[in-house]
Amino acid sequence: MERTPKSEFFHILKTQQFDRALLDELCELTTAIRKFAKTKEGLLYLRGLLAHKRAMLYFTQPSTRTFLSFNNACQILGIQTSEIRDSSTSSEVKGESLLDSLRTFSSYVDVVVMRTNAEGLAESAADLFDHIKRRVPIVNAGSGKDQHPTQALLDIYTLERSFAHRGGIDGKTLAMMGDLKRGRTVRSLCYLMKNYRNVKLIFIAPDRFKMEEDIKAHLQHHAVQFVETQDLKKVLPEIDAIYITRIQDEHDKDGESKSLDLSAFKLGVEHLKYMKQDAVIMHPLPRRDEIHPDVDADPRAKFWRQERNGMWMRVAIFVKQFKVDHLIMHGHLLD
Ligand code: NCD
Repeated sequence: MERTPKSEFFHILKTQQFDRALLDELCELTTAIRKFAKTKEGLLYLRGLLAHKRAMLYFTQPSTRTFLSFNNACQILGIQTSEIRDSSTSSEVKGESLLDSLRTFSSYVDVVVMRTNAEGLAESAADLFDHIKRRVPIVNAGSGKDQHPTQALLDIYTLERSFAHRGGIDGKTLAMMGDLKRGRTVRSLCYLMKNYRNVKLIFIAPDRFKMEEDIKAHLQHHAVQFVETQDLKKVLPEIDAIYITRIQDEHDKDGESKSLDLSAFKLGVEHLKYMKQDAVIMHPLPRRDEIHPDVDADPRAKFWRQERNGMWMRVAIFVKQFKVDHLIMHGHLLD
């Protein structure tokens, strides 16, 4: 039984769910919410919007910003939260299956946000919830090497805002650099590119961590242009945005990333002169040495803003999920 048709904004599992209209709507909603948040009156209004709801934050994979981002998004809307951050403190150690644990959460809360190591687990949880009486939405906050849909939404918001005066994302050239094979943020973002016209992607990665074939096949199928290179300097003058990721060595099987020379996949101040004046530098964070800290002072560095945008986009997601978006879009503060 498929109970989540494309048009229904319920579970957030993967970015293939989103079409252009929905992406544009979420971006507008995020901007409207940020306007409310500029005043005490607006913040108090937001805090009352979902004060009758409760959320479960099930984060059994390390997380700083995504956890805090969701937690603060809940607080902004008055949503009460409970959390599990370590499965060794849950009844899973008593032999309970994860799906039974998740079903337990669904008894107490109105939405479950989950980050786990396991690919496909958010989908299994959503499938389970679709078949029980108390159906609550699942939000995938990162599933193994596979997807990180809410990160991709905040990335889209950051790109749209950065290009607001240049026609938005349509027609732009976006480079992705780093561990493209195991970086779930770039994978999720790639799936969204078919929604924009004439976007060109440039993948810059060590041979071992090149973008996977499933994503390339998807891009080809949707006629999204992409090229692969290892020559960062050569492509810098043509790009409108560069999205850099760290090597995801937590997924190493035999220390394969340790022996690699990664010096060609780093951005330092010496690169900035080759980039367009209005280019954008992004990173999902946490970073290691793939972006030198001296780059932060350059106005093109948008990763800290990107991080903050994440909280507002997650507020927008809850607002839409609980169908109170009309109270934002037609709210009194915007009159
Ligand atoms: C990313 C993740 O967890 O996939 N972090 C995040 O959520 N902003 C990227 C990463 O860990 O490298």
